Amino acid sequence: MQGKRILLGISGGIAAYKIAYLIRILKKQGAEVRAIMTPASSDFISPLVVSTLSENPVHMEFWNKKTGEWANHVELALWADVFIIAPTTANTLAKMASGICDNLLLATYFSMKGKTIIAPAMDLDMYQHPTVKRNMETLLSDGVSIIPATEGALASGLEGQGRMEEPENIAAYIQDFFQVKKTADSKRILITAGPTYEAIDPVRFIGNHSSGKMGYELATACLAAGNDVILISGPTALELTHPNLQLIKVQTAQQMLVAVQEHWKSCELGIFSAAVADYRPENVATQKIKKQAEEHTLHLVKNPDILTWASQHRNEQQKVVGFALETNNAKEYALDKLTRKNLDFIVLNEFVKDVSGFQAETNKITIFDKDKNAIEFPLKSKKEVAKDVLSVVLKN
Ligand code: C5P
Repeated sequence: MQGKRILLGISGGIAAYKIAYLIRILKKQGAEVRAIMTPASSDFISPLVVSTLSENPVHMEFWNKKTGEWANHVELALWADVFIIAPTTANTLAKMASGICDNLLLATYFSMKGKTIIAPAMDLDMYQHPTVKRNMETLLSDGVSIIPATEGALASGLEGQGRMEEPENIAAYIQDFFQVKKTADSKRILITAGPTYEAIDPVRFIGNHSSGKMGYELATACLAAGNDVILISGPTALELTHPNLQLIKVQTAQQMLVAVQEHWKSCELGIFSAAVADYRPENVATQKIKKQAEEHTLHLVKNPDILTWASQHRNEQQKVVGFALETNNAKEYALDKLTRKNLDFIVLNEFVKDVSGFQAETNKITIFDKDKNAIEFPLKSKKEVAKDVLSVVLKN
């Protein structure tokens, strides 16, 4: 951390008192620290403590009424190697997600070109609130990294998720951010993962049993190898957080396509592991469909093929990798997709109930390159399979 310039944003939650420890750790590790506090945060930690420990003046207002000095948010944002907002309250989170810019901390956030990391802290029910979850997803899509709140005793007396991550772990996260080795070979990789849910009415959908594990393991392996990842994920129970990850959560195939269309141009490799629903209901009922007739017919229309779109809209440097999950005539179907979708590689995943495929912890794969050469792998954990896939597609 020697010489790293860390801009610290403090918003007004009880966890703010722990920021004194965070500043101590960062300073001990050799970082330069400057702090911006929201006016409400000074109820929880004194600006004097923050400025004494950071050895820098604390910024709270756009201009200092005593000295008349202007706190330049653009200059602060340009100065910082990273902006860490800890604690991030529900209020600050909501303003960041919706573009409200009514204090210096927010103005600086909107001026940041580099990475912003947030460490939310709030009460149990607030953390679970759909609005808060939605705002966090928006920020993830905007490229902000989130250090999730941890579980335990909360200031309200409740027990559950909502505690700001401990200062030493926040410092370790920041250290990871700086340590990720960017080599000349580092790439920007787009990965699709999970199922898609195609709405029938407000409470029902057509989906599949994909857990998203394979795609998330691929993302983890790509990140560990020093790459930047844009993970576009259908609904899953999985979470992943990393400074070099942009996680975009979608529900439907059409939304997944829009996200891919937005980001594909900036990536050098696309790994399409999502189990996209082939069809969607033509019309989505606005009210819950009532049980009436003995039979009910749903008219389905074909979904866009996202992988084919990416393959058709690529330059010579961009590689595309598809997945094929097959129950019969596996090799034949996989090779057909390789040619029809014009792929660089196809990863054939043979479906064996509870052993390989959806929901399973393991997969048995064969990778075919564009000349139809096969590399066969034994049954392995999805983590190992992810490493195998990368070793082949990144080498060639
Ligand atoms: O044609 P099929 O669905 O079997 O092809 C599987 C491959 O195509 C996977 O890589 C999957 O992610 C991708 N795919 C897609 N969009 C679709 C259907 C499949 O990207 N609508």
